[in-house]
Amino acid sequence: MIAIIDFGSQYTQLIARRIRELGVYAEIFPYSVSKEEIFRSAKEEIEGLILSGGPASVLSEDSPKVSLEIVKSFNVPILGICYGMQLLSYLNGGKLERSVFREYGYTQLKIISDSVLFKEVPRDIVVWMSHGDSVVKPPENFTVTSITENNIIASIENSSEKIYLVQFHPEVHHTQYGKIILKNFVFGICNATGSWTLEKFMKEEEGIIKNKVGKKKVMMAVSGGVDSTVMAVYLKRILGNQLLPIFVNTGLLRLNEEDEVINNFKSLGIDVKYVNASDEFLLALKGVKDPEEKRKIIGRKFVEVFFKEAKDIEILAQGTLYPDVIETSSVKGPSVTIKTHHNRVPEIRKLEKEGKILEPFKFLFKDEVRALGKILGIPNKIINRHPFPGPGLAVRIIGEITKEKLDILRKADNIFIEELKRDNIYDEIWQAFAVLLSDKAVGVMGDERSYGNVIVLRAVTSADGMTADWARLPYEFLNSVANRIIREIHGVTRVSYDITSKPPATIEWE
Ligand code: XMP
Repeated sequence: MIAIIDFGSQYTQLIARRIRELGVYAEIFPYSVSKEEIFRSAKEEIEGLILSGGPASVLSEDSPKVSLEIVKSFNVPILGICYGMQLLSYLNGGKLERSVFREYGYTQLKIISDSVLFKEVPRDIVVWMSHGDSVVKPPENFTVTSITENNIIASIENSSEKIYLVQFHPEVHHTQYGKIILKNFVFGICNATGSWTLEKFMKEEEGIIKNKVGKKKVMMAVSGGVDSTVMAVYLKRILGNQLLPIFVNTGLLRLNEEDEVINNFKSLGIDVKYVNASDEFLLALKGVKDPEEKRKIIGRKFVEVFFKEAKDIEILAQGTLYPDVIETSSVKGPSVTIKTHHNRVPEIRKLEKEGKILEPFKFLFKDEVRALGKILGIPNKIINRHPFPGPGLAVRIIGEITKEKLDILRKADNIFIEELKRDNIYDEIWQAFAVLLSDKAVGVMGDERSYGNVIVLRAVTSADGMTADWARLPYEFLNSVANRIIREIHGVTRVSYDITSKPPATIEWE
């Protein structure tokens, strides 16, 4: 495996994903973790180190640093990317300077000296840059292997010590031949074998799960979304009837979603325990308008309902994914709560302390969960479902939630999704949904002016939900969705389309 030392770059997870795509396992460790801890938690033998980029400047005193001795003591080849390059140059005695101008975005690069790292890469390529500091004098015994159009050193290396440093980001897909460069490092320099596969990895995890569970019962909450469905199918295969999935209807689901979810599970050979807590949720939300308050109430209620059903939990399976794990142990520390999620509540922390939590996917990225779902034979129609937030339609009704508003929103949402599927657009979109505003707008229906509800349609494209672009849906398509909504839903007089991207907006409206 390749160990990635994280200095806080937004691209660190991408490095791990690219390496895994090459058939080599990769794990991310915060720069502050000790070598012993890395060895203790690494799942495989470490064949190479990658030092990631990061937002800090090596030149500032309080920037994150590691000791050169420790890095070298791993005795494996090292690739430093961006901040990682600057840090290793600095530690080896090179000179850094704050650049006159920031190199950002697409940049022309010229390879000026042969390097194993650039095997099968043309001399002139376009790379993705994002840096303020630059190496102006390489450390002794380091060769400059490429420069940019701005005459800035773009890569240096000491091949006898197997240290390779690049200023650009090979992990970002905008970098031409980025994958080949990473491949050259992993195979040509680290001599990794490339025998890692998701299938093999999950097969090995099976043993760990069986060992932990023994004869105990394992409970889990299912929503019908990709993660919980794949996890239920995966665990069912390993644990059979020891798995007890519970499906809570919060009353905040989409049109006919409860039947669809139960039937989907049935078709996968899984019986879920169905708990209809709609009334309870709606009562708890009565009169509440504040978005964060709504989320808190829903999170609390969910835990309350779930734990009432799942009495005397022996083991609780959670769908934690690798990005959640990295986030909680990241360079920046546990991330500030942007939105309250309900998987860090005291009840769950208590189970964690007692060793009763099972997290089979905690080393997987979302696309790997989808890939596993395919391996397990879960139909595409389930795997490709758009993500749906835990608090459900509550974050798509601005202000107070009522049954009437839920009914209107459900119908509008259903029309939008039906039309997207009919025109074969659904699978190109990361998420599409309708939002119901709290204010009313005027309209003319027949000959009369009337005040009616406003529906906003939102559709975004995205790779991971962290950033998103509004989807350029055809005008004609939007026109027919809007017409259907006005025609079919009594009380809606206006339909609007949201054209903000994330950032600055978020995907959800609350
Ligand atoms: P935002 O609105 O933050 O959403 O841009 C990013 C992604 O996260 C989903 N989301 C949630 N998922 N519980 C969830 O399980 C939540 O509270 C929650 N809030 C947002 C959202 O649907 C999008 O996919």
